[in-house]
Amino acid sequence: MFQAKADVISKKEISPGVFSITLISPEISRNAKPGQFVHVLCGVQNDKFLLRRPFSIHRVVPGRAFEILFQVVGSGTKELSKVKIHDALDVIGPLGTSFTYSPDIKSALLLAGGLGVAPLLFLAEELTENHVMFYAMLGAQTKTKLLRYIDFKRLAKKTFAATEDGSFGHEGTVVALLNRTVHRLRPQVIYAVGPGKMLQKVAETADDFGIDCQVSIEAKMACGVGACLGCTCLTRQGFKLTCKDGPIFNARDIMWGESEVEQLSLDGYKYEAAEITDSD
Ligand code: FES
Repeated sequence: MFQAKADVISKKEISPGVFSITLISPEISRNAKPGQFVHVLCGVQNDKFLLRRPFSIHRVVPGRAFEILFQVVGSGTKELSKVKIHDALDVIGPLGTSFTYSPDIKSALLLAGGLGVAPLLFLAEELTENHVMFYAMLGAQTKTKLLRYIDFKRLAKKTFAATEDGSFGHEGTVVALLNRTVHRLRPQVIYAVGPGKMLQKVAETADDFGIDCQVSIEAKMACGVGACLGCTCLTRQGFKLTCKDGPIFNARDIMWGESEVEQLSLDGYKYEAAEITDSD
């Protein structure tokens, strides 16, 4: 884990209200693994926000820079969307656990709901480098909200898309698409990122077909390093800290929907859950 003043070298609005920012940090980019996150003070004036926001590491330029992807949903991300090239942001990372796979893995399925593409594109690039065949399945409400489709199409053996309004790909949810195709694809492992309810359904399908499944759990995070105990998630092994024991968990370990704490932890994206108040 490193703390850095990371210079912004690129900022793009890739879809309305969705931004990617690339920051220079040789230490973080060299040590980051897919699924891990960084904790960012969302402004150049660091006294403006006391709490950091967690963002999945979206991609890395090894040994040089890393990229985050976020949607403007509150005061912190709004401030972050205003940073300029050459601004320096206070960043801690890489934090948390990463996706795992065995050296002899033959096939995988990367499944993302909305901004769930954020950590999965990093994983897709790593699997490609290691010659692991994988499918990608992306879901969104509309074509405009379908993110990084072209990037996954470039890397995956086949990329499926589902939009709820039918404006691109299959009409309906990405879970419905999974249920229609999983018997044919039969991946050895599913990596899923998205809203809690979506993850629960993906976990149930994976279980029905005897497929391993790893999920990225979202939670409100204050400290990001296991000190405040504010990001608990109920698992079969008891309460775990999403920031330190996760965010990547085996889907079979999660006690889906069995307590209020779990619902709080899993409700919505990390990026949205991180927006605590307007004045924090
Ligand atoms: Fe503080 Fe996880 S955010 S313990």
